[in-house]
Amino acid sequence: MGARNVPNEVREILDKFVLDKEKLFEISEKIELQIKAGLAKRHGSSIAMLPSYVPALPDGSETGKYVAIDLSGKNLLIMLLTLSGTTREPVQNKINYIVPNHVMKGTGDQLFTFIVNCLQRFLQEFELVEANLPIGFVFSYPCELLSIRSARLLWWTKGFDIKDCLQKDVVSLLEEALDMNMSTKAQIKAVMNDTVGQLAAAAHRYGPECTVGVVIGYGCNSSYLEKTENITKFDAKSLGYPHDKMVVVTEWEEFGSQGELDEILTEFDRELDAASVHKRKQIIDKLTGALYLGELVRRILSQLVLDRVLFEGHPCEKLDEIDSFPTKYISEILAEEDGIFIKCRRICDELDVPLHGSTDYRIIRAVCDIVSRRSASIVAAAISALLRHLELSSVKIGVGGALIQFHPTYHQLLEEQLSNLTPLNVKWQLVPADEGSAQGAALIAAVAEKLNL
Ligand code: GLC
Repeated sequence: MGARNVPNEVREILDKFVLDKEKLFEISEKIELQIKAGLAKRHGSSIAMLPSYVPALPDGSETGKYVAIDLSGKNLLIMLLTLSGTTREPVQNKINYIVPNHVMKGTGDQLFTFIVNCLQRFLQEFELVEANLPIGFVFSYPCELLSIRSARLLWWTKGFDIKDCLQKDVVSLLEEALDMNMSTKAQIKAVMNDTVGQLAAAAHRYGPECTVGVVIGYGCNSSYLEKTENITKFDAKSLGYPHDKMVVVTEWEEFGSQGELDEILTEFDRELDAASVHKRKQIIDKLTGALYLGELVRRILSQLVLDRVLFEGHPCEKLDEIDSFPTKYISEILAEEDGIFIKCRRICDELDVPLHGSTDYRIIRAVCDIVSRRSASIVAAAISALLRHLELSSVKIGVGGALIQFHPTYHQLLEEQLSNLTPLNVKWQLVPADEGSAQGAALIAAVAEKLNL
């Protein structure tokens, strides 16, 4: 697979996306330094290392019914989890709701009313409106937590831009919206980043060796179990935090916002960044996340049309439209065996390309492949930085998010790159947990109840 059998002009562009082992290692070392700096100081590190106030992960003994509300990008997933305390395969019921575009950039009132209305519909569906169930709330945007039930939104990512929510406690906003809707009863037990949910779900399924969680979804971020004493910027005593461990959310997607990745950015990355809602921010998200990979492919293909290398230079108007090449196209194209182009042909038809043939399909496939490879390489550089910091001899890494779940080669690409970059004396394993963040949120609500947090 890859750049075989493509014209030289294409290869030249693809080469810009290749990162060799030395470069990746250099990036990984810089990330490790920022991880350490982020644990020591509240400002100044490009990796925020945010305390989550979660002191322990689920161990399988949890029982009862819990609800998760998981807001990530356009998707609002609501899940009911029934835990029996014995099984590691909890029963789950879920419904996905799509957040309308105008709500993503509207007011806080609109967003939280939308969430509560969806919750009400969900609870009605399962006849639980009166049950007053405990809720775990996944809010996968950078937040400063003041307790396990209070999260102040620092800034938006993933295309959201609701100014009147900034610096506000999103749990209070959700509770206010719940209060306004007198017919739905529920108690928010815990609020967390999606990576914390991902970690909790994987720890529940794969056991206590799983202490790192990574989400490669619309954006890319991680969390892990840290010794409280290592979070030196966090004064546990005066903050009344008695536990010796705490999950830390790295928010490593911000690495690069101080120019650390400038030298690897291609012209396509710079254009994508310039057109984004948050310019010069979340560079790791933009290089790796599902919100951006399709758009990156689109920009490259559009340039290749202009260069008259793709579609014999026949203009393709749709390819000139922002976001007309969703990341799911990449997954569909790469899911086909090399040399089979049924889906690729269908996608070209959907894009209204007037004329297309097998050379075009090979080029499109090679572009999808290289963009995916670079994404996995960068995520591997970040994971290996965390593993070096942790100095564990053996660890399971709970991975989830759209790219892990739906991209056919991503898991393997990530594994290959991690083997290249991680010290040989660390025994690591990538363990997937689908829809982990929502499931994990319900599990953290159970942990919070069990520990009386
Ligand atoms: C973005 C968000 C981060 C989240 C990640 C994965 O990077 O800023 O908080 O965890 O996406 O959804």
